[in-house]
Amino acid sequence: MKILIINGPNLNLLGIREPGIYGNQSFEAYYEDLKKEFPEVEFDYFQSNIEGELIDQIQRGGFSCDGILLNAAAYTHTSVGIRDAIKTIETPVIEIHISNTFSREDFRHKSYVSPVVKGIIVGFGLDSYRLGIKFFLNA
Ligand code: DQA
Repeated sequence: MKILIINGPNLNLLGIREPGIYGNQSFEAYYEDLKKEFPEVEFDYFQSNIEGELIDQIQRGGFSCDGILLNAAAYTHTSVGIRDAIKTIETPVIEIHISNTFSREDFRHKSYVSPVVKGIIVGFGLDSYRLGIKFFLNA
């Protein structure tokens, strides 16, 4: 089971960035926990603040991995390019959000990604990623 986790802009600052919304843990620390919890999974992780680099990784993992967990962060609400990339690949993608985007500003209620993904996990803090992994393992 190969799972690629892709994080978009500003998620490199998890633990520092708006901790009241995103928590106190860095993604790197959480990622170590995930690898320990799911030793049967071959993980790959990529983060970028650059839209085109996220598209490159979706294309790269999209024909070689069993599942992709994508938190496109702010690009969720703007990116036709990321949506088109997801439509192009074979690997199922789960859209992940740490915060409940529907309880926040109106502009976060629109996702360009949601219509083309397998499913959406929103608002469970970093556990949103853990729930996505469990789905792929049981699928
Ligand atoms: C986010 C929600 C987005 O609206 C925001 O731009 C992010 C993080 C989340 O995980 O809650 O950067 O994707």
